[in-house]
Amino acid sequence: METPVPVRPGSPAAALAGIRLRVNGRECEVPTAPRTALLHVLRNDLELNGPKYGCGLGECGACTVLIDGVAARSCVIPVQAAIGREVTTLEGLGSRRCPGPTQQAFIDCQAAQCGYCLNGMVMTVEALLRRNPRPTEQELRNELHHNLCRCGTHVEIMQAALRAVPLRAGRSPLSEPPEAQEAQP
Ligand code: FES
Repeated sequence: METPVPVRPGSPAAALAGIRLRVNGRECEVPTAPRTALLHVLRNDLELNGPKYGCGLGECGACTVLIDGVAARSCVIPVQAAIGREVTTLEGLGSRRCPGPTQQAFIDCQAAQCGYCLNGMVMTVEALLRRNPRPTEQELRNELHHNLCRCGTHVEIMQAALRAVPLRAGRSPLSEPPEAQEAQP
């Protein structure tokens, strides 16, 4: 039997009714109001800080998670909408020691400047690759069109998205990551 994720003692949610969720493959019970934004429950109660608070309006994509494998903006989704569904955050794709293939692609391409948007970029690419393992570059661009990066790191982000396609399919990328290319004589 899976161990429920504990709620921090003394957190504001501790006095409220429990809502059962399944997050990153684990069952958990979170005492919170049903209309609390899923993002706040993930970050404040479950201490999953992959998803970020950006605009809070469903516009920027920084808070993206997967719900039943589909990209969703957790800042505008009430936690009650996630009951009975599988929620996956950035933490659920891999770990520092063992990143998932989509995460690895972004690491390989060093596709971050401030890094704040990166959760949304990775989760959006992951969602696309789950439903379409061989997207075209244009399909990747279309998918990422509504994810904002204020640093202007779009070139590296697209390199990472393209690299994630073969990595996630278990194939070798056709090219080395940009840094490795530069290092070659
Ligand atoms: Fe959710 Fe911007 S913080 S879309």
